[in-house]
Amino acid sequence: MEQILVLDFGSQYTQLIARRLREMGIFSVILPFDSWQAAMQPDVRAVILSGGPSSVLDADAPIIPREFFGISKPVLGVCYGMQLMAKLMRGQVQPSDSREYGRTRIEITADSVLFANGVESHFQAWMSHGDIVTKPPESFIVTARSHNGLIAAIQHKTRPLFAVQFHPEVSHTQYGMQVLRNFAFHVAHMQPNWSVDAFLKQQQESLKTVEGDDRVLIAVSGGVDSSVTAALLARMLPGRVTGVFVDNGLLRKDEVAAVQAAFKDFKGLHLHVIDAQDRFLSELKGITDPEQKRKVIGRVFFDVFKAFARAHGPFRFLAQGTLYPDVIESRSVRGPSHTIKSHHNVGGLPEDLGFELLEPLRELFKDEVRELGRRLGLPAAMVNRQPFPGPGLAVRVLGEVTAEKLRIVREADAIFNEELAVQPFYPQIWQSFAVLLPVRSVGVMGDARTYDQVIALRAVQSVDAMTAEVFDIPTSLLADIARRIIGRVKGVNRVVFDVSSKPPATIEWE
Ligand code: XMP
Repeated sequence: MEQILVLDFGSQYTQLIARRLREMGIFSVILPFDSWQAAMQPDVRAVILSGGPSSVLDADAPIIPREFFGISKPVLGVCYGMQLMAKLMRGQVQPSDSREYGRTRIEITADSVLFANGVESHFQAWMSHGDIVTKPPESFIVTARSHNGLIAAIQHKTRPLFAVQFHPEVSHTQYGMQVLRNFAFHVAHMQPNWSVDAFLKQQQESLKTVEGDDRVLIAVSGGVDSSVTAALLARMLPGRVTGVFVDNGLLRKDEVAAVQAAFKDFKGLHLHVIDAQDRFLSELKGITDPEQKRKVIGRVFFDVFKAFARAHGPFRFLAQGTLYPDVIESRSVRGPSHTIKSHHNVGGLPEDLGFELLEPLRELFKDEVRELGRRLGLPAAMVNRQPFPGPGLAVRVLGEVTAEKLRIVREADAIFNEELAVQPFYPQIWQSFAVLLPVRSVGVMGDARTYDQVIALRAVQSVDAMTAEVFDIPTSLLADIARRIIGRVKGVNRVVFDVSSKPPATIEWE
């Protein structure tokens, strides 16, 4: 498929570049900077050099050979990518006295196809850099400057080499999408031919390698990734896909029924729900340490899954809902944007089960997966579902997990989310949930004194769970919700709202 290659120099925005391109129908792939030779492949129509945290003036800066710029394909350098292009082509780069960070006003100073098609002569752009290009390479001209006179964009006089100091991929940059569109459509002359439909066609081709009697096993968790994987494979390989949904007793209210209902029309999938609630609960007895809980839950899940695979096998393939960000992170080398992943899905299975892996979503971003899910006919509630941790409610009952405490947190969680789901702002919430605290407090109900449990409510905004802010819910709504929880959930006499951000707190309490 024709594509734009994004070479990653470690910017936190690298993935955004690829996502923006895909939103405009251009397939794009991210590789670490030292895979620059991939740019020579015929499917690659253009290259974008990403930003990055390093300085090209440092001895150990990530670089590519100067000869790279002999390439006949269009290249766009962004931020660090611009400084690299300028330095390697013998321009001048220096540390800047006035560090530009955040929204900066840009002025176009020369005609450029990059700033054509409606980009105004002055606009706000997002900057984040220490170094600046003080003198463009010989054969380059300056096409834009920032309000304090610094060079903001350059381009080669005759060849399709462009560079911008600002980040066109960031939504704070006005006309950023248009700059990328100009590069893809008017410099690289590409066609917008990437879409979820194109992806489905491609999958149909590539899954032809799965032979007639090969069977596929997949662990379904109710989450978006595993559900869409299961739905896709059920469509592509009808009758040969077996889904296992382990009810560990740590799920939210009505979750098992919702998953069963979602897949009821997928005749191509044999879905088995295993009731392992008692087993999980008895293995969790007496355990209070959060990491210990995760270990136990992971081990029991693995045992249950393995026993199922033995009893219902043989399966040649194990399907997993790996997404493109996981793929990018797993192969990032020094410098590139590796995020520190603190948690692995408890549903993630050890590799020694002897299956071949099938990961049909490994080229897709989350928003593309959601669209695919809708296209395949999964219910909106499942496709737009909030993330839910593998260890489930076990990490939302602080301390030892018991059936009674699970009942309380499950009921409170259901009321909280039921009330939020009808609010117009609900889709903006990253996660919203209830936590049962291991304390009791005094209250009064009717004429009687109570000494009952405390529920903490948490609602956060986030883009990737690495950082999070409290979601601002009106106090009057919170008070209504608290009243409902205390009135309906036996054992609770107080509700508090968690207003901490991450960092320093985490999203979950355990
Ligand atoms: P924290 O609490 O570290 O969570 O801010 C970040 C994101 O990860 C989810 N989370 C988990 N997911 N297994 C998972 O599959 C886990 O053990 C786990 N712990 C936290 C959390 O819900 C949030 O989305």
